[in-house]
Amino acid sequence: MSKIITIWGSPNSGKTTLAVKIASMLSKNNNVIILSTDIIAPPIGTILPYTKEQNKSLGKLLEMVTLTQEDIFKNLITLKDNKNIAFLGYRQGENYKTYAEYTIDRANELIVNLSHIADYLIIDSSSIIQLDMLSQASLKLADEVIRLCGSDLKAISYYKSIFPILSDKSYNLSNHIKILAKIEDIEPKSITSNHYGDIFCDLPYTKEIQTQYIEGLLLNKLVEKQSLKYNESLDKLMDNITGETLENKKNKKEKKNKTKSKRSDRKFKLSFKLPTFIKKKEQDDYE
Ligand SMILES: Nc1ncnc2c1ncn2[C@@H]1O[C@H](COP(=O)(O)OP(=O)(O)OP(=O)(O)O)[C@@H](O)[C@H]1O
Ligand SMILES: [Mg+2]
Repeated sequence: MSKIITIWGSPNSGKTTLAVKIASMLSKNNNVIILSTDIIAPPIGTILPYTKEQNKSLGKLLEMVTLTQEDIFKNLITLKDNKNIAFLGYRQGENYKTYAEYTIDRANELIVNLSHIADYLIIDSSSIIQLDMLSQASLKLADEVIRLCGSDLKAISYYKSIFPILSDKSYNLSNHIKILAKIEDIEPKSITSNHYGDIFCDLPYTKEIQTQYIEGLLLNKLVEKQSLKYNESLDKLMDNITGETLENKKNKKEKKNKTKSKRSDRKFKLSFKLPTFIKKKEQDDYE
């Protein structure tokens, strides 16, 4: 069973962006599924703008009478350039009236099933938890919840409204990893940080993300100098998710350097083990 990471937070705080960045980094050594619960503005167009969706949708899985692994495979969108990532979400043009209503049991069943397929299930959850059972389930079933706290008054107002709805203990609010999101230089960081309390790290505003978003290149690494702080926070978060310690990292680096020099004589390429959901598919959907 994989690790389930749910990314939740105030509207427009960068949840989808962070979900893609984390998935992209994890996919170097793991099979990852990104599940987006967003039915208000399905993000497929921004994450994979050139994809052939082929009638695939999260909505289909939620309304089916019985859910099989085969159905899940049929609705996963895979990428040509990265065999370790699959995406599941609503299609563009769909809305809450497109499909029949589903139950909380189905939401739980889908999340558990997805977590059996990949090493990591990254859930890009909706801010509107009260109307979205899949997001409710994603908060309760997650091994880690990353909570993005916007640095403006609107975000603070959002949390004031949503917390009473999430008062049930099963939401484990005190265990969330809190991140100050999209923080800009002009903003009173210490005030917002004090307001939320116990902030794990900041994910600052960087124009490079805006550019990647517009160009549909969110899966790419951030390489510009202005994104250094965002990347540092991302690394810190990744260590927390993977359980990596500094010492481990150092040992791995030394080991890697040693094997690199040994491997240089080899004449064959090591092939990476493909995930089950890729093996079952005959062709890629993403071009
Ligand atoms: N760190 C950042 N710096 C600059 N822009 C960012 C950053 N993170 C996200 N953005 C931008 O903010 C906007 C919203 O990002 P995103 O869609 O990831 O947020 P969200 O929380 O998923 O939104 P929603 O609540 O609508 O689902 C996008 O235009 C994106 O490019
Ligand atoms: Mg989003």
